[in-house]
Amino acid sequence: MDRNPRISNRVSNIGKSAIHEMTRLSKQVEDVAFLSWAKPTSDTPEHIKEGAIAAIRDGLVGGYSENLGLVKLREEIVGKLERDNNTEATPAEIMVTVGAIEGLAAAVMAIIDPGDEVILPTPTYSTHIRQVVMASGKPVLVPLIEENDFALDIDGIRKAITPRTRAIIYCSPSNPTGTAFSEEQLRQLAECALENNLMIITDEAYEYFVFDDHKHFSIASIPEMKKNVVSCYTFTKSYAMTGWRIGYLHADEEMIPQINKAHIPFAICAPVVSQYAALSALQGPQNCVREFREHYLATRNLMCDRLDRLGSVFDYRRPSGSYLMFPRILLDEGKDSTAFCVKLLKEARVSTTPGIAFGPTGQGHLRLSFCVPEETINKAFDRMESYFG
Ligand SMILES: Cc1ncc(COP(=O)(O)O)c(C=O)c1O
Repeated sequence: MDRNPRISNRVSNIGKSAIHEMTRLSKQVEDVAFLSWAKPTSDTPEHIKEGAIAAIRDGLVGGYSENLGLVKLREEIVGKLERDNNTEATPAEIMVTVGAIEGLAAAVMAIIDPGDEVILPTPTYSTHIRQVVMASGKPVLVPLIEENDFALDIDGIRKAITPRTRAIIYCSPSNPTGTAFSEEQLRQLAECALENNLMIITDEAYEYFVFDDHKHFSIASIPEMKKNVVSCYTFTKSYAMTGWRIGYLHADEEMIPQINKAHIPFAICAPVVSQYAALSALQGPQNCVREFREHYLATRNLMCDRLDRLGSVFDYRRPSGSYLMFPRILLDEGKDSTAFCVKLLKEARVSTTPGIAFGPTGQGHLRLSFCVPEETINKAFDRMESYFG
C-alpha cells in the first residue's frame, strides 16, 4: 500500500519559490551582498509600535475583531483612500486583511471558478500566478512591453480575452519591473474590462514609491469601475510593517460579504494587535513614508549609475516605481537566469533573484532590489565589476 501522504494536485503542481530558494542558498555564503529581498530593511517607526503597545496594555487585543476589521480602522482607511487614491469609499466597502496577500487570495477565491481564465501581465509577482492556480483557475500570461519600459500591452490583453476570461490581476508599481503603469494605460484597461465584464484585481503594495514625474493611479478612482474592481493595499511597504501582516482591500459593498466568506476560513480576522498598529500608522505623522520614498529614490539612482558602468553585462529600464528593477542579462550565460544567479551568488557573493521566478517572460533577466542601504549596493556592484571585469 502506498503510505505517502496524498497531496492535492492543486498544491503539488506549484513549483518551489525561487525567491525562497535564493534566500536559502544565500545563507550558505559568508558576507553576502543581498539584493534579492523585496522587503523594507528599516524597522517599523516608533509611534506605530507605541500604538500597538498601548493597545496591548489596555487589554484590547486578546479577542477577535469584526471579521472585516475594527470600525475605526476602516474609517481611517476610507479617509486615506479619498486623500491618496482619489477613491470614494465607505467602511462597508473595506475589509482589513492579513497583509495584501490574504486580501488578494480571498478576492481570487471569491471571483474565480475552476477553469476560469485570469489574465496577468508578466513578468509579475509570482504569488499572483500561484493564487490563481490555487483557486483552480487558469493563468493567461500576457507579456509587458519591455522596450516601452515594461508598459501594459493593451492590444495583447484584448487578444487574450476569451469567453472563459473572468479577471485581470496586475500590480502597479510593479514587482519585479519597477513600472508604475500610466493613468492613460489604466483607463484603457478599465475600458477593456467594462466592455468584457471582467473583474480587475489590483495589488497596490508600492503605491507610495513612485519617482520623477510619474504618479500612482488607482483604477478604482474611475467611478464606472465601482463594481468591477477589488483594490488590495498593505501597510507592509509604506510603513515598514512586513511582520505585522496587515493590509486591506476595497471593493463594492455587495462584493465585500462574498469576499468575507473566503476571508473567514483563511483568517477569521486580521491580527488585532496589528490593526491597532495600523491605526497609529494612519493617524500619526506621515513623514516616515516620505523618508522611505526619498531613500528609495536615492538608492534607485545609485543602482542605475552603477548599472551604467556594467553596460556590457546588463541592459535596464529605469524604474518609475517600487524599489525593484529588472535588468536584462546581455551575456550568453544569462539565458538561464537561475544558473546565472546561482553562479553570481557562489562566485561573486552577490544575491539576486532569477527573472524566471516572475513568469516565462522573465527569463534572461534578474531582479535587483534597492530597498537596501547604499553600502550594500556599492558592495554588490564593486564585486560584480571585478567579477565581470
Ligand atoms: C507586489 C507585492 N504584493 C504583495 C506583497 C506582500 O504584501 P503583504 O506583506 O502585505 O502581504 C509583496 C511583497 O513582496 C509584493 O511585492
